[in-house]
Amino acid sequence: MRKLNITESDLKDIQQCKPLTWLNTAYQNTQAAPVKPKSKALYEAQNRLQRFAPLLAELFPELEHSKGLIESPLVRADNLNSQINFIGGSLFLKTDNDLPVAGSIKARGGIHEVLCFAQALGLKQGLIHENDTSFLNLGSADAKKLFNKYTIIVGSTGNLGLSIGVIGSALGFKTVVHMSSDAKQWKKQRLRSRGVTVIEHQADYAVAVDAGRKEAQASAFKYFVDDERSPELFMGYAVAALRLKEQLSAAARIVDAKHPLFVYLPAGVGGAPGGITFGLKLLFGDHVHCFFAEPIQAPCMLLGMAGEPNSPPTSIYELGLNIDTDADGLAVGTASQWVCDATRDLLAGVFTATDEKLYEQLYLLNTLENIKVEPSSAIACLGMHMLNTEKGKAYLTAHKLHDSMEDSTHIAWLTGGSFVPKEEYNSYLNKAKFIHEQFLTQSMSL
Ligand SMILES: Cc1ncc(COP(=O)(O)O)c(C=O)c1O
Repeated sequence: MRKLNITESDLKDIQQCKPLTWLNTAYQNTQAAPVKPKSKALYEAQNRLQRFAPLLAELFPELEHSKGLIESPLVRADNLNSQINFIGGSLFLKTDNDLPVAGSIKARGGIHEVLCFAQALGLKQGLIHENDTSFLNLGSADAKKLFNKYTIIVGSTGNLGLSIGVIGSALGFKTVVHMSSDAKQWKKQRLRSRGVTVIEHQADYAVAVDAGRKEAQASAFKYFVDDERSPELFMGYAVAALRLKEQLSAAARIVDAKHPLFVYLPAGVGGAPGGITFGLKLLFGDHVHCFFAEPIQAPCMLLGMAGEPNSPPTSIYELGLNIDTDADGLAVGTASQWVCDATRDLLAGVFTATDEKLYEQLYLLNTLENIKVEPSSAIACLGMHMLNTEKGKAYLTAHKLHDSMEDSTHIAWLTGGSFVPKEEYNSYLNKAKFIHEQFLTQSMSL
């Protein structure tokens, strides 16, 4: 096994599927992050999304009121906060579970990358020009005819496929999504109903991605969206940080040395949480503390971030784990090396949780905040619990944060859920209710 910056006891917990908090020893060490994404690329992505906004508003009626911007509300969650926060501060939910068009955090990145490709083709064919303030013309019949010659291919656990499939087919591209065995049936059906070709693999996410990559190699008319190493996806996700900054300021939340911001992000292959972390660190520097959250069965980003720079991440299979989690969006065995090498110095740490714990949060979100999420999302709400553990407190001590906790802001990043069919959601909720009642019975008998 490759070198890992993990203690023996943490490694044992990972192998025995025990939940843990891992503090990143490479945090703030820029040497540990050899890939250096440029801040300029973030502002270019923001500008691109702005120029495409009129076209997006035309393609997707649900974007009419936001004038084509794909964004989710930041919601204060006092009821949930009073139940789960024993460390101080206010809790907000970033509701990407309700993100329009694709219903998950993967929308911003996936849509941004397809728009990058459409822009490049449109410029080459003279359908749009560098100085255009709007790319509305890429919705024309001529543009559709052009895009229809190309196939966009992607490998996914479900939600990235949904976002690529939805925007790709709306613009007129042919789209193919290679789905891992963890992908839910309803996500495949939703795509097929839009004319997207879905190829099902009885294997994990890495195999699905690889199959897509191989398919695209064969032709100049095929474009592969590479979730394992894509700066375009990464920057699309990162734009969320710019939007969040405005939302925090509208909510009168200060972020500075005396008012720290803690952000808890569910992580799969790492692109979405990595991109957002990159954007947030650029905007808030040392005043924001980003933690990733993973299921005990799939701590691939923990292993990737704990690895050495410029070396392939250790996969969970090398530690004898086998993905078995209801958090399908996070069901990834090997992290993106590119994301690890781009953000290793920015990440405060990673915590892992059992499916039971994330179901409990799913239940609380429903009953206390009337918010419906898929299981992958709910894990974000365990962030404040993590800060209250021995390791979490050690982090607060090391960064001299204890005295600022009353004025801190916590953001649980909810990453998917609004498209989950009613019956599917009800079955999650029933399971969550059962687990919640079991916890109650256990705590009463203590
Ligand atoms: C609901 C949900 N949350 C979080 C993630 C994690 O994103 P990433 O795989 O980019 O780390 C995914 C990925 O598909 C997801 O579907």
